[in-house]
Amino acid sequence: MTNLPLDPARIRALFPAFAEPSLAGQAFFENAGGSYTASPVLDRLDHYYRATKVQPYGVYAASAEAGAAMDLAFERMAQAFNVSADWIHFGPSSSANTYVLAHAFSGWLKPGDAIVVTNQDHEANTGNWRRLARHGIEIREWAVDPVSGRLSLDALDALLDEKVRLVAAPHCSNIVGEINPVADIASRTHAVGAVLVIDGVSYAPHGIPDLAALGADIYLFSAYKVYGPHQGVMAIRPDLAAQLPNQGHYFNDIKPRYRLTPAGPDHAQIAASAGIPDYLEQVAAIAGANVEGADPFRRAHTAMRAQEMALIAPLLDYLGNRNDVRLIGPADPKLRAPTIALHHAEPGIELARRLTRHGIMASGGNFYAVRLLEALGIDPHNHGVLRLSFVHYTTPEEIQQLITALDAEL
Ligand SMILES: Cc1ncc(COP(=O)(O)O)c(C=O)c1O
Repeated sequence: MTNLPLDPARIRALFPAFAEPSLAGQAFFENAGGSYTASPVLDRLDHYYRATKVQPYGVYAASAEAGAAMDLAFERMAQAFNVSADWIHFGPSSSANTYVLAHAFSGWLKPGDAIVVTNQDHEANTGNWRRLARHGIEIREWAVDPVSGRLSLDALDALLDEKVRLVAAPHCSNIVGEINPVADIASRTHAVGAVLVIDGVSYAPHGIPDLAALGADIYLFSAYKVYGPHQGVMAIRPDLAAQLPNQGHYFNDIKPRYRLTPAGPDHAQIAASAGIPDYLEQVAAIAGANVEGADPFRRAHTAMRAQEMALIAPLLDYLGNRNDVRLIGPADPKLRAPTIALHHAEPGIELARRLTRHGIMASGGNFYAVRLLEALGIDPHNHGVLRLSFVHYTTPEEIQQLITALDAEL
């Protein structure tokens, strides 16, 4: 396969999982559930637990080093997003983060205000918001096209008026895979004076976006799907974060970083998260002159997307030639992330089970996108989809291994 800006061997050398004997020969196609962890992340986690596993931000050397390691993660994550460090918050997971955010917004919105939610989202970025109906908030659903699974901007326009204070939508659904036009959604949302919350969990593994360019007021992703530890990352426009009622201890109200993370920080995992930007810089270095971009994070993003688009093409071609599977979402590599959901006569989990015979690690089910599967006419509980998800570290040989396996089992 040509047109690969990233040398797979150099990329995979940065992931201990690819040298793990028990995983040899197993092609990993469940990355949307959680990626392998990059060495710079593991190194930072290991160092934290060995050398600085003490209360951070104290007066003795190990404590000061622990606090500095955490601060670095905020700084570095902000660089990756192209925003300032006061945008960044770490919480236990994206589900927990949206739960807290929705609670905070319940004290910011007023009865009679309206919010827009989608039925394309993972439940984490829709159910928590829909519960605001209890507080007298009007819930408007931006519904997908039942055939394509697409969220159209026309449908959004029909829902927006001056009553709308918040729009919650995915950058990319974990089933449809289509990359939604966030900048267009942001300009429409802002035109009516509302704030935009974007679930980037299914997008960020394919490149941390330039938030300044994207225009979302809040952007969430799960670090454990982006080569990092089990943390949820929230970027929130600082002046908006300051307006939201404090969700932490009352005496921490003056500390912006403590106001929206009531669970308390997981010190070691926050420190380890600085390894994600470290890794992305290494991706940019491996891509070298093959890609352009303003900084290493933009270059890594471009390289990862280009790599994935080259890798996905033969798989989409193969699937396009079968009339016994329904590909959810677009067949054009440019329009989608490599998170491919297939509907077939057999339940998704049964197909995944059979693919294990061929060394394929994948899964089936509803992936907590229950509302979406219902809208697409797929029984989310008894049937579901087969999901095949990969990232830039997947090789052309693994794609071929998957195609051969699908050919034998579908
Ligand atoms: C698109 C999407 N949003 C949100 C979540 C929830 O993330 P977390 O596991 O960090 O709560 C997931 C998890 O699979 C997801 O795929």
